[in-house]
Amino acid sequence: PYSTKEPVFRCLETQYKHIWRSSEYPFDGTVEEALKNALVRCENTNKKLLIIEDGGYAVPMLHSKYEDKVSLCFGAVEQTTHGIWRDEEVEDLKIPIIDVARSKIKCELESPLIGKAIVMNIDLLLSKIGISLTNKKILLIGFGNVGSKIAEWLRRFGGRVWVYDTQDDKLNTARQERFEIIKNIHEGVKDKQIIIGATGKKSFGFNELTAITNDVYFINATSKLMEMDYEELNALAAQSENISGVGRKYKLHTGYTIYLLANGFPVNFFDPESQSVPDLEIQFIPTLLFNAAIYLLEKRIGENGISSIPEDIQKDLRDTYQKFRS
Ligand SMILES: NC(=O)c1ccc[n+]([C@@H]2O[C@H](COP(=O)([O-])OP(=O)(O)OC[C@H]3O[C@@H](n4cnc5c(N)ncnc54)[C@H](O)[C@@H]3O)[C@@H](O)[C@H]2O)c1
Repeated sequence: PYSTKEPVFRCLETQYKHIWRSSEYPFDGTVEEALKNALVRCENTNKKLLIIEDGGYAVPMLHSKYEDKVSLCFGAVEQTTHGIWRDEEVEDLKIPIIDVARSKIKCELESPLIGKAIVMNIDLLLSKIGISLTNKKILLIGFGNVGSKIAEWLRRFGGRVWVYDTQDDKLNTARQERFEIIKNIHEGVKDKQIIIGATGKKSFGFNELTAITNDVYFINATSKLMEMDYEELNALAAQSENISGVGRKYKLHTGYTIYLLANGFPVNFFDPESQSVPDLEIQFIPTLLFNAAIYLLEKRIGENGISSIPEDIQKDLRDTYQKFRS
């Protein structure tokens, strides 16, 4: 979404020479062009490349397409969980990577704000078609950092929440927090009115779609076009139509209708009227990223592979942030 924010782009464009922009996902072609150009400049200037990423694009590409130039890269800092998962898929990481995504400070301070932003955006989109969250039967798939906070906010909005997660410890936590839990997703989808995917994976496909016994609103609460298996949804759809500013409606061969809010994109990045987490609230994230980059540059990490951001850096930042907030 950042590349679609016009003021951000204009500001960067006036201050820096080398800016690549792609507003359409997937944008691997743009990342490849930027990476290639950066590596050529490193070679020509005898400098090294430092990658600060949001989504795990450049690191896997560096390893798959520019293996012979990996030594030109100092290392990388990654800020999203999805990006870390993509980096973990690289068999033999040849650079150090700092994982900001799963840092304690980010989970503690950012996840509640994300949970709130997601639920507010769901409420905004549903209100456009006259639907309210109050008393709705909601299935939440995934009770991780983001999902658990979504659950809290759904409850505040009056929703009745059932939680499904593939990990038993997550289900136990959900139960302790007084949410209903579901052990079998195919049973769990029955009679639900709203289904939210918060796993960061493909969590909903043919088997789940055919188990629906109501018309439902489906929401992706994570990244890109995650959660729904679109091939299977399209194969099961007898017809579909756009609902302007809300999403897409699919009439399934089973006779039920599924409304894909935000066309399947993360709901907090869809509506131009809404915003995700207010920028001012998450100023600590860029600070955290740059602190991690400095840590990397000072060569305090010796090994290749993924490491967490040291606790002392997080503590300093937490103290400063809390002082600033009060
Ligand atoms: N939209 C946003 O603003 C935003 C913000 C932060 C993170 N994210 C994205 O959200 C995703 C999740 O992040 P997180 O930090 O909550 O991750 P997490 O690992 O803490 O949580 C994911 C949960 O989903 C569960 N899970 C995985 N596959 C499942 C399946 N098939 N069925 C049921 N449960 C399943 C896991 O057991 C885990 O509990 C990532 O892709 C991340 O990049 C989006």
